Amino acid sequence: MAEPGKYAYDRWVDSLGVPVHRGYFVEDLRTVPLGKWDQREADSCFIQLNGAEGITEVRVTEIPPGGTLKPWTLAIDETMYIVSGRGMTTVRHSEGPGRSFEWQKNALFMIPGGYTAELSNMSGTEPARVMSYNYMPLAMTVVDNAKYFLNNPFAYTRREPSTDENMYAEAKVQTADAPGGMPRQVWYGNFFPDMKGWDKLVPFKGRGAGGHVVFIRYPESNITNHMSVFPSRTYKKAHRHGPGRAIVIPDGEGFSVMWEEGKDKVVIPWHEGSLFTPPDKWFHQHFNVGAIPARYLAFHPPAQFAGYSEKVEDRRRDQIEYPQEEPWIREKFAAELKGHGTTSIMPEQAYKDENFEWDYKGE
Ligand SMILES: [Fe+2]
Repeated sequence: MAEPGKYAYDRWVDSLGVPVHRGYFVEDLRTVPLGKWDQREADSCFIQLNGAEGITEVRVTEIPPGGTLKPWTLAIDETMYIVSGRGMTTVRHSEGPGRSFEWQKNALFMIPGGYTAELSNMSGTEPARVMSYNYMPLAMTVVDNAKYFLNNPFAYTRREPSTDENMYAEAKVQTADAPGGMPRQVWYGNFFPDMKGWDKLVPFKGRGAGGHVVFIRYPESNITNHMSVFPSRTYKKAHRHGPGRAIVIPDGEGFSVMWEEGKDKVVIPWHEGSLFTPPDKWFHQHFNVGAIPARYLAFHPPAQFAGYSEKVEDRRRDQIEYPQEEPWIREKFAAELKGHGTTSIMPEQAYKDENFEWDYKGE
């Protein structure tokens, strides 16, 4: 576990007088304590979970009812996910006219590095909360000066400035090569209005539970996301990979178990608004104990942190098939479901045949 202040980014964050939350998870971003960030003139907090330290930033910012935040210009790309409320963002590049779009809870969008974003709350009564995810800790390891990244007047031109025109238009689907060389469907855009309602999903075979997935990319950005959706009263296979991911829950109720091989397990309870990070190379496994499909939205670090599990041949080492899992896993799931007055619908065959696959026919 990293000591507070270990990295250049930590020293900067600690100097701001804004709350910094650490640990394995934040149960509810909608209520996590915030404090005044004087320079920003906004209530904010930073979240550096175990496994994100020195790599990726999660920050929560609140916009008061009817309020508009000071313009925000970060030299690096930043994704924003709306935790609560509804509002509007205007994004500008240099002296350009800017693009505006409205958003509400569960929206996801990307502000390209060097662009200025102005966020307003369109409700006169309810605050709005925005979760930001970016690579600021990594960037500050290279350039140890926050001023270089905040309000830097250098306005660089994107490789495809023509995309500005339709920058926040509807996302489009493309077929891209996944790690391992298999083509997969990727949604490409800067604005995804509702991750709780998003239904353009494809089967995610091999990870169990009959789960579905959407892969998201932003034009010219290294930041990517995926969101998994899996049925009530099922759970996915344990797997492990590199650090720096942030996982937020748009909908559902369940828990995740995380552990370093051979070590004690950490149980993360989650519901809408929860956030957690699987530490580097820790196994993690997701369980749905609610009555509806659960969905988790993952924010990805740069590709060099992807770690294991990205290729088919890594599965044997970095994924635990149901027949090989510890009995405790199944017992814990049954016990949690019992507390909800229900039982597992995991097929018995899944525990007998490691090649068992859910029926995705008709899709
Ligand atoms: Fe994972």
